[in-house]
Amino acid sequence: MYSIAIDGPAGAGKSTIARAIAKKLGYVYVDTGAMYRAIALYIMRKGIDGNDVESIAAECPDIHITLSYDQEGVQQIYLNSENVTGEIRKEEVGKMASVTSAIPEVREALLELQRDLAETSNVLMDGRDIGTHVLPDASLKIYLTASPDVRAKRRFDELNEKGIPCDFDRIKEDIIERDQQDMNRKISPLRQAEDAIPVDTSDMTIPEVIDVIVDAFHKKTAREELL
Ligand code: DC
Repeated sequence: MYSIAIDGPAGAGKSTIARAIAKKLGYVYVDTGAMYRAIALYIMRKGIDGNDVESIAAECPDIHITLSYDQEGVQQIYLNSENVTGEIRKEEVGKMASVTSAIPEVREALLELQRDLAETSNVLMDGRDIGTHVLPDASLKIYLTASPDVRAKRRFDELNEKGIPCDFDRIKEDIIERDQQDMNRKISPLRQAEDAIPVDTSDMTIPEVIDVIVDAFHKKTAREELL
């Protein structure tokens, strides 16, 4: 099986890029952030504080996350059999996921599911710790970044397009706070794997980023097939 790991901070464009590349290569796209968001949603619905590590750890055995793919190949995520694909996209769920994903039991609960997926299909998996921890032997590892200003601007434009009122400085602050949390937690923090290719998308268009990664993938797999 081949696997591609794409890691990077919030708003770097991982899901847009990953979805497009997976489609191009005929790979299964696995959005691991959605799994952390589904657990965060469960915790929010229970009214548990995100910092209440003991209570969250105690809930983990009762949380069952599964995935399926619809006719267009779009990942659907289920929380104890309920499809929560739409609900987990809310801003507050993302923020909560950044907090609860620092808890070891939460990460443990998802690791096996993530590795099983990569064992049964060619996958393109995106997240924070895919290249460093989940799939250390991935065929290709990419670290996708962009400056906080660019990431905030993209998010600002996206919300504006949807007619959702928002404030640029607030969005930027949230992005910086999320970076801090994801990069500084004790287990599996966000960092570039030693063998990952860094791609800074600040001044690149989406098709340019896709081309760079697909090209790197073909080069890497051609080299391996020669060995
Ligand atoms: O990519 P995202 O915004 O959907 O992810 C939400 C949060 O989940 C992110 O802030 C940190 C956490 N996460 C993680 O810890 N490890 C992953 N592999 C993916 C996401």
